[in-house]
Amino acid sequence: MRAVSDEDLRVDVHLGPEDFRAALEADVRSGLASTPKSIPPVWFYDEVGSALFEDITSLAEYYPTRAERALLEEHAPAIATIARADTLVELGAGACAKTRVLLDAMVGAGELERYLPFDVSDEFLREAAGELRADYPGIDIHAVVGDFHRHLDRIPRKGRRLIAFLGGTIGNFTPEERRRFYFDLNTTMDPGDHLLLGTDLVKDTARIVAAYDDAAGVTAAFNRNVLTVLNRELDADFDPAAFDHVATWNAEEAWIEMRLRARSPQRVHVRALDLAVEFDGGEDLLTEISAKFTADGLSAELEAADFVLDGVWGAGDGEFLLTVAHPYC
Ligand code: SAH
Ligand code: TRP
Repeated sequence: MRAVSDEDLRVDVHLGPEDFRAALEADVRSGLASTPKSIPPVWFYDEVGSALFEDITSLAEYYPTRAERALLEEHAPAIATIARADTLVELGAGACAKTRVLLDAMVGAGELERYLPFDVSDEFLREAAGELRADYPGIDIHAVVGDFHRHLDRIPRKGRRLIAFLGGTIGNFTPEERRRFYFDLNTTMDPGDHLLLGTDLVKDTARIVAAYDDAAGVTAAFNRNVLTVLNRELDADFDPAAFDHVATWNAEEAWIEMRLRARSPQRVHVRALDLAVEFDGGEDLLTEISAKFTADGLSAELEAADFVLDGVWGAGDGEFLLTVAHPYC
């Protein structure tokens, strides 16, 4: 692990350039050899991808960010009272925008000492954390660069923690990844720690699909950006314009599937891996799922993972759900 200071912003890096590169190579080798072809969503988030995601959050069609922010504005004081935390950890923090609502409530509750944003997108995280530091001079900000599928045990176990995982990002995990994540998280949480989870809810299909296929094409650009990442990092020659952005609702699994569909047959070279890959015309590269939950389904899976629920906000005919829970015993 490298600990670096950007004008005294403390940043722990658990995913340095070599590790990052090894993980990318392994994911691309196995993903492009699978049927259907796939690439894990973590590779969307270079500087450009992180900025495009921020643009998505203010689109008219993308309701989750506004819904989650409204819930936080209403319930953050109650959440702060339950957690009584001196440390806020945020997984997949991104631009740390909604975090401010939570930070304000926790500062108001009088016990907050530090904020630990955790994300894979190194530069973007530094910028976001740097801005927060200027706005919250009394709070110790300690950024952690890592992969939440692998590095949860590297997050400092300081103080009494509230671990926030917002944005519905847990919906981007497969069910198996979710089980593993709950287990890993549960084993790294100490007595007194709480989890705050933000999840999107099942609702009218047309609204969900529109949130992942906006009229201005920002989500399409975000999706295609993964090909640009592969071109740059692995010297590949994908033509992003030769792939259509496709978002479909999988009713059986209750998730949105994001794909890139080859408009015509493509032969792609990934030169750094000495790999040639063929796409048939109409063939898909699966880039992301975004699962939608029901309040009962989510409670059941948290309980099955040995969490005890402390509070649930936004259920009923709500758009989005906030859940606070802590490990059993
Ligand atoms: N929490 C923000 C951002 C959500 S987008 C919000 O609610 O708006 C998902 C975030 O998770 C991005 O910032 C992305 O960089 C990060 N991320 C994606 N995969 C990750 C991984 N495997 N490990 C850590 N962070 C990851
Ligand atoms: N966590 C976000 C979500 O599932 C990520 C996201 C939003 C996303 N739009 C996207 C990922 C489009 C890939 C493509 O809502």
